[in-house]
Amino acid sequence: MNPVGLFSAFRVQQKRTENAYTCSLVLNDSLPDALPGQFVMAWLPGIDERPFSLSDNDPVRITVADVGSFSHALNQLQPGDYLWLRGPLGRGFISRGRSHLLLGGGYGAAPLSFLAKSLCAQGNQVGVCLGARSRADLLLVEEFSSLGCQVWLATEDGSAGKQGLLTALLPEAQNALKPETVYACGPIGMLTTMAAWARTAGLPAQLSFEGVMRCGVGLCGSCELPETTCQQLGLAPGFLVCHDGPVGEISPNHFS
Ligand SMILES: Cc1cc2nc3c(=O)[nH]c(=O)nc-3n(C[C@H](O)[C@H](O)[C@H](O)COP(=O)(O)OP(=O)(O)OC[C@H]3O[C@@H](n4cnc5c(N)ncnc54)[C@H](O)[C@@H]3O)c2cc1C
Ligand code: FES
Repeated sequence: MNPVGLFSAFRVQQKRTENAYTCSLVLNDSLPDALPGQFVMAWLPGIDERPFSLSDNDPVRITVADVGSFSHALNQLQPGDYLWLRGPLGRGFISRGRSHLLLGGGYGAAPLSFLAKSLCAQGNQVGVCLGARSRADLLLVEEFSSLGCQVWLATEDGSAGKQGLLTALLPEAQNALKPETVYACGPIGMLTTMAAWARTAGLPAQLSFEGVMRCGVGLCGSCELPETTCQQLGLAPGFLVCHDGPVGEISPNHFS
């Protein structure tokens, strides 16, 4: 593992198109100590650096939606090109129990693919709910299926799976899977809805949060979650996404 403050050079080994605006970059080395849910800071000299969840660690893979200048530059990389990473950083998911329900909105599917791979390799039962605007926006569906996960889909326009929001899949998935822990990554609205549902269902939840990151190691304070979010979810005030998360554990008793 490289020291968290230093960047290491990686080369793109393979570039995989995941949808019209998202690619996965498979790199030429592994991060064997990385845990699902941890992230890396990716740096392109002269452009910027940004945090990305690991969608796999061996070999390292990041899955990047092209939404702005930095993510666009990453989407332009080709096999053989260099990028620099520091990490793995932050706290990842902790596997609890034998039956697990994973919920991914948008590129939130990325860290969950690493988690699903690890849980399936240990012989756990894994169900995955994926949601997006339309069929064309869904990510990594075939990958979860090929790992042996049971997969439920929701799209806002009804072009794949159930029409509506991803969280509408929760009752059906719970009945089929009887999960002991739920894990989620996606927009904050999805995470709070998921936490409320998990509390009603009496299930512990592990949620992966986003924040504006600069240092990535708990020094600058830019990634602190709003006080209201911490209060609502029962997280310690001043929760730093990079240092205390990105994954926060929510007890079913603590959601207000
Ligand atoms: C812990 C963590 C893990 C992350 N993991 C991933 C990951 O696995 N894959 C990934 O693609 N991104 C991930 N991100 C987001 C990533 O770090 C960048 O914020 C994102 O790529 C946008 O950066 P940019 O410079 O391209 O766009 P910016 O210039 O920062 O933003 C351009 C515009 O796009 C909007 N925007 C920013 N992000 C999004 C978004 N996600 N969807 C829609 N609009 C957006 C902004 O509001 C702005 O209007 C993660 C962030 C965190 C904190
Ligand atoms: S990014 Fe600096 S404290 Fe989290």
